[in-house]
Amino acid sequence: MANILDGIKLSKQIKQEIKDEVIQYVNQGYRRPHLLALLVGENAASVTYVNNKIKDCQAVGFKSSLVKLKNTITEEGLLKEVGKLNETDGLDGFIVQLPLPKHINQERIITAINPDKDVDGFHPVNFGKMALGIESFLPATPYGIMEMLSRYKISTEGKQVVVIGRSRIVGRPMSILLSRKGNPGDATVTLVHSKTVDIPKHTRNADIIITALGVPQFLKADMIKQGSVIIDVGITKVEDFTSEKGYYLSGDVDFPEVSPKASWITPVPGGVGPMTRAMLLKNTLFAYSKEIK
Ligand code: GUN
Repeated sequence: MANILDGIKLSKQIKQEIKDEVIQYVNQGYRRPHLLALLVGENAASVTYVNNKIKDCQAVGFKSSLVKLKNTITEEGLLKEVGKLNETDGLDGFIVQLPLPKHINQERIITAINPDKDVDGFHPVNFGKMALGIESFLPATPYGIMEMLSRYKISTEGKQVVVIGRSRIVGRPMSILLSRKGNPGDATVTLVHSKTVDIPKHTRNADIIITALGVPQFLKADMIKQGSVIIDVGITKVEDFTSEKGYYLSGDVDFPEVSPKASWITPVPGGVGPMTRAMLLKNTLFAYSKEIK
């Protein structure tokens, strides 16, 4: 049976470290770090995510703000809001929660964010730095997975890693980070996606599989090698009228059949998700520490 990569336990440790650091700054007379979240519209998942981010800030002693905008806001209107936040003193970082309404060009908004305040690490400048190995904000989910591998001392050097999914915020940066020099890193990375011919051919050879697909129970036992490390980024609501909530949360991995064959595995929920949340705080603390120096 696989060992569990416990994202809840690890994220608690990380949050405690952040909280301790904030206390030290405050004791030296500095202000608290400040993170702001910008939410456009009322997408249910986005509302939950943003509320969690605000809660996390409070838990570690950050100042936090939430700006809610109507989903009828124009692209120009949103650009203006971003411009204001870029210039706000004492605001260390802000995030524009994605997805944005369809009438707004997401790339245009992301590119308008001041890269020094882009604690999501989504701006092309930060993405470029990430790809080149220059210190920058790393996108929170891949960063959280790197931290998880590091703290569980799972070596990636020379390993065959398969990343499933090439999204802007998870799969693509994940594949780059693991192919960079260093630890974690130094892996041989294959990025598979919707146009890949024969995904199982690749996953069966992998020492480490990272799935970021959003297809419940996609990864089956016959698609993996004995003893591989399985990291599941997927989290999809599946309707279930027999449960109290009317749904359950499913990862991309068929956990009951895959876990006996794996050496390490992340649960869903309680794996990657809490790590993502912790790393946004880490990025904010990094922005803050550069700002007050
Ligand atoms: N939507 C889903 N994940 C994220 C994230 O990490 N940041 C932002 N801004 N939006 C998201």
